[in-house]
Amino acid sequence: MAFNLKNRSFLKEIDFEPAELRYLLRLSEALKLAKYAGTEAKRLASKEIALIFEKTSTRTRSSFEVAAFDQGAHVTYLDPSGSQLGHKESIADTAAVLGRMYDAIEFRGTRQSDVESLAAHSGVPVYNGLTDEWHPTQMLADFLTMHESSNKPYDALSYAYVGDCRFNMGRSLLVMGALMGSDVRLSGPKDLHPPKDVVDLADDIARRTGARVTVTDDVGAAVSGVDFIHTDVWVSMGESKDVWTERVRLLTPYQVNSDLLSRSGNSAVKFMHCLPAFHDANTAVGREIMDHTGMTSGIEVTGEVFDSAASIVFDQAENRLHTIKAILVATLG
Ligand code: CP
Ligand code: NVA
Repeated sequence: MAFNLKNRSFLKEIDFEPAELRYLLRLSEALKLAKYAGTEAKRLASKEIALIFEKTSTRTRSSFEVAAFDQGAHVTYLDPSGSQLGHKESIADTAAVLGRMYDAIEFRGTRQSDVESLAAHSGVPVYNGLTDEWHPTQMLADFLTMHESSNKPYDALSYAYVGDCRFNMGRSLLVMGALMGSDVRLSGPKDLHPPKDVVDLADDIARRTGARVTVTDDVGAAVSGVDFIHTDVWVSMGESKDVWTERVRLLTPYQVNSDLLSRSGNSAVKFMHCLPAFHDANTAVGREIMDHTGMTSGIEVTGEVFDSAASIVFDQAENRLHTIKAILVATLG
């Protein structure tokens, strides 16, 4: 089957068909091998890519920059303090300007409507580097990592995501699992479940792909028999610090600790996290939350699990590079 994804944007998982997502994952594997072997060909020479970050980033920014460099492209990093975006110039006007100078635009910010507006007004491919609603580039890395770690085809993967299910990571893992035909289970307190339209979307896709989709507050049922347990921070970028107390109250039963791993009943179960994670007191924010909550062994994940052999979080982080490169090569190369 031939794929032509040229000039396509990636704003949310459903922008690509399952077969197109599989193609991007195969391309990621090929690019990863080529980088390791030192045989990578530069397919993006003379391409210019704008990277807009309204929110901070380590992995996503580094992946776009290194992927672009490896492929011969050039990037411009724009943050809100270093550009007119938002305070003096609208998204639509910014898009019209950047579309005349750049071959593609990456955007990380709060609102999904902003990344959609950039795509609508720029005339070039736009990539969502995270909004409150979706984190699609992360999904390719997560699926590549689960495939590499288990050697299973995508439709044979089983995983649970536990914690705050209503934000970008929970929503994306739900819909991506549905698209890939996987056994995907989300677990968190009912107050933090994804909105009905997102669950309905995943259910509709699952009917087409044969995926099994579960959203439950029963964390034991969610992790039973799975190969992977994912989590994410309990309070995301842009949320008020004031919600910490309530989040800790709601989410403590969903902490990923060694007891939760053993409740999977799978001695080979692996732990995944998009990162950054609060698993120790070695960051200012982590220390503050631990002091405030008394949860000295970790917040959403214990240090014991994070540092264990079950943890594949750094393989997952590395795969951000190879998968983001695949998106660039497929849409611009
Ligand atoms: N996982 C992820 O998106 O990491 P960054 O926030 O560091 O980009
Ligand atoms: N849910 C987290 C993901 C970080 C990659 C956030 O939005 O802050």
